[in-house]
Amino acid sequence: MLDQIAKFRQIVTLCNGTRVLLRPLTPDDKNALVAMFEPVGPDDFKTMRNDVRNREVVAGWAAGVDYKKVLPLIAVVNDRIVGDATLHFRSGPGRHIADVRIFLAKEFRRCGLGSAMLRALIDIARKSGMRQLVAEIVADQVKVINAFKQLGFEQRAIYPDYFMMPDGETHDVAVLILALASKRDEF
Ligand SMILES: CC(C)(COP(=O)(O)OP(=O)(O)OC[C@H]1O[C@@H](n2cnc3c(N)ncnc32)[C@H](O)[C@@H]1OP(=O)(O)O)[C@@H](O)C(=O)NCCC(=O)NCCS
Repeated sequence: MLDQIAKFRQIVTLCNGTRVLLRPLTPDDKNALVAMFEPVGPDDFKTMRNDVRNREVVAGWAAGVDYKKVLPLIAVVNDRIVGDATLHFRSGPGRHIADVRIFLAKEFRRCGLGSAMLRALIDIARKSGMRQLVAEIVADQVKVINAFKQLGFEQRAIYPDYFMMPDGETHDVAVLILALASKRDEF
């Protein structure tokens, strides 16, 4: 399965005709990944879990990439990375579950890329035997939540005050789940 994941390639045509290659991240993508996250503005930064403007943090993700733990699918235009969507595989009693996160460069949003990347991740997750995907999204991001709902995710819970912004303000988090297979589907 890991072999198949490493070979995954898909070309996506965006609403404006731009062609984008989707493929898994490799250690060689280190500098391009750092370059994608570097210009992140304060509005995006405050809703992110990691210090993506820290070059060492981001370079470390690429250098230590391990598809058994985290599968990062990137979107590439020429030699530039314009999107990064990740599956984070849980373990033990959660080994049938993966968490999903996605980030796109600003000028590549609202043109179908986010949906295409999430669809590709959903497909890979299903083939990897995952039964559920989970997205935890700051509840104020109604449009982002709607984008996940359009792909079949359902809102299952709200965790009050679960996300602390850099200024110390807390926000609710919406938990969205996509069920990939139910027992009934096996018969
Ligand atoms: C969330 C994100 C991945 C969506 O990707 P995208 O390529 O912009 O989304 P798409 O073009 O595929 O559009 C899918 C849906 O997103 C919704 N959407 C996303 N941004 C929107 C906006 N600014 N205004 C209105 N609708 C929006 C719409 O429902 C849209 O469906 P429609 O085109 O049929 O109206 C992207 O905006 C992003 O990277 N945001 C910053 C990071 C983030 O918030 N990540 C999510 C937390 S895990």
